[in-house]
Amino acid sequence: MNRRRFLQTGAAASLALKGFPAILGDTPQRFRTALIGAGWWGMNIGHVAMQSGASKIVALCDVDENQLRPAVENVERLSGDRPRVYKDFRDLLAKEKPDIAIVATPDHWHPLIAIAAVKAGAHVYVEKPVSHTILEGKAMVRAARESDRVMQVDLWRRVSPDHVAGMEFLKSGKAGKIGMVRAFVHYPGGPGEPTPDSDPPPGLDWDLWCGPAPYRNFNRAIHPKGFRQFLEYANGQLGDWGVHWMDQILWWTEEKYPRKVYSTGGRWIKRDSTNAPDTQIVAFEFETFTAHWEHRLYAGNRAEKAYVGCYFYGTEGTFHMGWTDGWTFYPDTDNKPLVHMDAHLDEPDDQNIALLWANFIDAIRSRQRPVRDIEIGHRSTNMSLLGMLSLKLGRSIEWDGEKEEVVGDPEANRLLRREYRSPWKYPEV
Ligand SMILES: NC(=O)c1ccc[n+]([C@@H]2O[C@H](COP(=O)([O-])OP(=O)(O)OC[C@H]3O[C@@H](n4cnc5c(N)ncnc54)[C@H](O)[C@@H]3O)[C@@H](O)[C@H]2O)c1
Repeated sequence: MNRRRFLQTGAAASLALKGFPAILGDTPQRFRTALIGAGWWGMNIGHVAMQSGASKIVALCDVDENQLRPAVENVERLSGDRPRVYKDFRDLLAKEKPDIAIVATPDHWHPLIAIAAVKAGAHVYVEKPVSHTILEGKAMVRAARESDRVMQVDLWRRVSPDHVAGMEFLKSGKAGKIGMVRAFVHYPGGPGEPTPDSDPPPGLDWDLWCGPAPYRNFNRAIHPKGFRQFLEYANGQLGDWGVHWMDQILWWTEEKYPRKVYSTGGRWIKRDSTNAPDTQIVAFEFETFTAHWEHRLYAGNRAEKAYVGCYFYGTEGTFHMGWTDGWTFYPDTDNKPLVHMDAHLDEPDDQNIALLWANFIDAIRSRQRPVRDIEIGHRSTNMSLLGMLSLKLGRSIEWDGEKEEVVGDPEANRLLRREYRSPWKYPEV
């Protein structure tokens, strides 16, 4: 059995047990799939797409040849297919007309590429956070609807078996009535050292990497992967990690958005080249509960054991939704037993992309909305972006989630969008 045949049978069959029954039950139809942004996470999704048996990776696109080269070798080694390579997503979309586009670039590029992809007829699997500013996300929802394409956001915790079971536990009322939710990510770390700007490495088109966002000199702390802590291209820990946990809050509650948001924080510790806050808290006022976010990029959180997740505080006790540690319910008194469920994660990097990908493919075939449809991903992203907006303004904001505007605050409303660098045009709604 050659490698390709193995992928179509053996590996695919084992994945069937994990979440691909609909795909394998059908006559195999392999969607012509393009991966745009062939870095760390993009290749994780690419692997899942190939292993699902539902996709043939026909093209890879990256502005950095140093990322593209190993990605092509990887695809060829795993599937036997040699994808065509592109530097510019516009060329890829025009020439390949893919059925599916995976968008796994840095955050500042998600909106323009995802919108161009659905307009070119592709279904899109896009990374979180969906956008850098709120109105870009609104434009993504509109583009998906107008093009009648599926746009799934890679918030894979929505299908993780332990998260699904944990949400059932919470929603059944076993933690009692929840009055407060606290979401957090606390890393260990110190001030760090500045990294000097330098020439971009040969093979990287740095101008295209910056794209619609402000241009700044190349710094190896930014690319690859480091953009998260640079506010020109991302929104720090809240915009990156926070979105996963904001999404858990919105999954749990019946409410669609917070009514008021206030954030404070700063860079009290970091002395490296990044510019995102190393310390931040956000208070969210909902109609029926209070939520808050907190992160630190130092000290870890060993006193509380968990360094990442959401605590849901109810009248029966505290429920911790974690990551690699699964979930645990701590009853309010000592005489009741703890309830715990281990995490069920896939390698590498402890994720459940395969299950979310299966839902994406099912949504394309059944012409239904996927579980992390762009509208939901947009709302989860908005919670993080509203926190960043309040931090920038230094005051609380009142959010009208139906109109998607800040109530009575023209200055705040101007910051729901940002200027794009020419020749790129902001996706107006
Ligand atoms: N859902 C999750 O759990 C999860 C986990 C990790 C990362 N992510 C998300 O994945 C995205 C990528 O993160 P990463 O860690 O893989 O970063 P990375 O730097 O490793 O990869 C991003 C790649 O995109 C390329 N790129 C930049 N502009 C491009 C353009 N215009 N066209 C094509 N390629 C372009 C870069 O050169 C780079 O190779 C981020 O949005 C991140 O938030 C999500």
